[in-house]
Amino acid sequence: MLQLQVIYGRDAGKCLSFQQSAVNIGTDPGNDFRLTDSEVSEYHGRFTCNHDAGHYAYCDLQSLHGSRVQSSTIDVLLYSRQMPQSIALAGDTTLSVGQTVIRCQNVPGKSNSGQNVSMSRKTAISIHSLAPSKNVKLLGFLLDMSTHLMARTNHQGVMAHVAKSILQQLPKASHVAFWQIDSVRDSFSCVYERARNNGIVPHLLSKDEFLSALNGHNVELYVSENEDHQAIVAPLVTSSREIGVFVVDSDSAERITSGELDAMARLAHMVAYAFERTVYNADLSSVFEGFIRAMIAVMDARDPATAGHSMRVSQYTMYLAQAIQSDQSPAFRNVSFSHNHIDELRFASLLHDIGKVVLRREILLKSAKLRSSELKHLLERIDLFSAWFATQSTETLGESYRSPQQFEHYREIVTRVVQADVHPSNEDLRYLNEMRKTTVSSFPGLPLLTAEELECLCIPFGTLNADERHEIQKHALISWQYLSQIAWPQRWANVPLFVLQHHEKLNGTGYPYGIKGDQILLQSRMISVCDIFDALTGGDRSYKTRHAFGDAAIILRKEADYGALDPDIVDIFIRKVIPQIVDPEAHTNGDGE
Ligand SMILES: [Fe+2]
Ligand SMILES: [Fe+2]
Repeated sequence: MLQLQVIYGRDAGKCLSFQQSAVNIGTDPGNDFRLTDSEVSEYHGRFTCNHDAGHYAYCDLQSLHGSRVQSSTIDVLLYSRQMPQSIALAGDTTLSVGQTVIRCQNVPGKSNSGQNVSMSRKTAISIHSLAPSKNVKLLGFLLDMSTHLMARTNHQGVMAHVAKSILQQLPKASHVAFWQIDSVRDSFSCVYERARNNGIVPHLLSKDEFLSALNGHNVELYVSENEDHQAIVAPLVTSSREIGVFVVDSDSAERITSGELDAMARLAHMVAYAFERTVYNADLSSVFEGFIRAMIAVMDARDPATAGHSMRVSQYTMYLAQAIQSDQSPAFRNVSFSHNHIDELRFASLLHDIGKVVLRREILLKSAKLRSSELKHLLERIDLFSAWFATQSTETLGESYRSPQQFEHYREIVTRVVQADVHPSNEDLRYLNEMRKTTVSSFPGLPLLTAEELECLCIPFGTLNADERHEIQKHALISWQYLSQIAWPQRWANVPLFVLQHHEKLNGTGYPYGIKGDQILLQSRMISVCDIFDALTGGDRSYKTRHAFGDAAIILRKEADYGALDPDIVDIFIRKVIPQIVDPEAHTNGDGE
């Protein structure tokens, strides 16, 4: 018997024992062991048990943050959003999921083998020969099921809801199990089961009975020799896919009626198509995921200076969403993100700068206030002017005379202030204006410093002049234009809008529209904070000063005080997210998520 006891977390003290061979944990009410921790996924993980042999295993069902399993011999984090991760367990185990720690024990219990019971087929009805039903109660049940199944986006959700509903609506049912067929039709594996009152569950039917139902597209009823056990096997098959079967067991003395068999046949048909839809959704997700990663790779290849920025901003945004989700302060108490919301936010944070792919590379790659060729020409001109002035005398030129030392000084100022992180002083500006006024009669119309060069060298921060800055700011709108052309599924429909607003500021000083306050969506404000943090701390921008995390936090706070950034988001980012960025391992291992 599997015994689960929460020893730390919101559900501390909760303890249940299970005799079935699979136990699901998660926050959805359809789980056998339900948790209320907001950092736990809806269908987080599953224990599978062979009670007779005393073996059990744990599988993380692609949860958002993974599961940490610890025992005397193992200490492992199971985490993959692509595929479930399993581990065989021995002895007592501690499982960390979200903020919750569960003690898991396989304690001695009653046998459930039932191997000696023989079952024979009594009746079968084809799922293709069902006439329209006039049973109002049945139609109501199926309509209700259909509504709920439409809302489910994964297999686990479908199976949990169906099993729970059958046990509620069919009092003689004692157990529901889903068996999935493998790709070569060689074996079936039990992927979900639920028993009434956690009772003993015999698995009396085998592959042959399952194949019979599947091959014939029949719902079949089996009854044991002494008629104390009945089992319905319903095929899960669509026009394009063979999924497996679901089995409803009954240990009731009452016989299963033809009407109940009819209901299971109709339900099987509906469930099979619900599965197909979840598979289609999963396929669609992976197509989008691959497509987005390809776009990011193209963008990173075009601008090696900021390669990795999109991935880091996305990672930070996910940390931030997780922190907000579990925060109980008034600012975020009512904020919660579903799986779809999280995916939508992840896609938007990955793609937030995608419009930069159409900007000129010379702007993206500009690493100093003047390009290297422009600086070279200016320095050559200084040498040329210096050589010309060397042939002149102070008496002839008067105030317009420049000494060799002055030209040395000009050269020093230019090579210093041209760097991205140098803010020209007032004295620098005075000398630059002096250069602008310096001319020689041999080159009429060509001053020592052109108006364009002066503008660039006077840039206070960064490397871009006004025109270049304006051009780069177009990327927010361009990103939106491109992303709006994608037929996003409804659940991710806000991706273009989140991206459009990622440079807007609460006080209206942002772009492209200068919108203010609540006009800027929460998700865009989140991406904005993560974006600025990475722009300040990202080690890949060789031409910019890399700020220490602490300095970046001070700059974020100043921006919040100035009214540009959301102070609540900045606050939680500094308190919860920066420590996680500094030491992701500690946060993954420490609290389990
Ligand atoms: Fe951006
Ligand atoms: Fe960015």
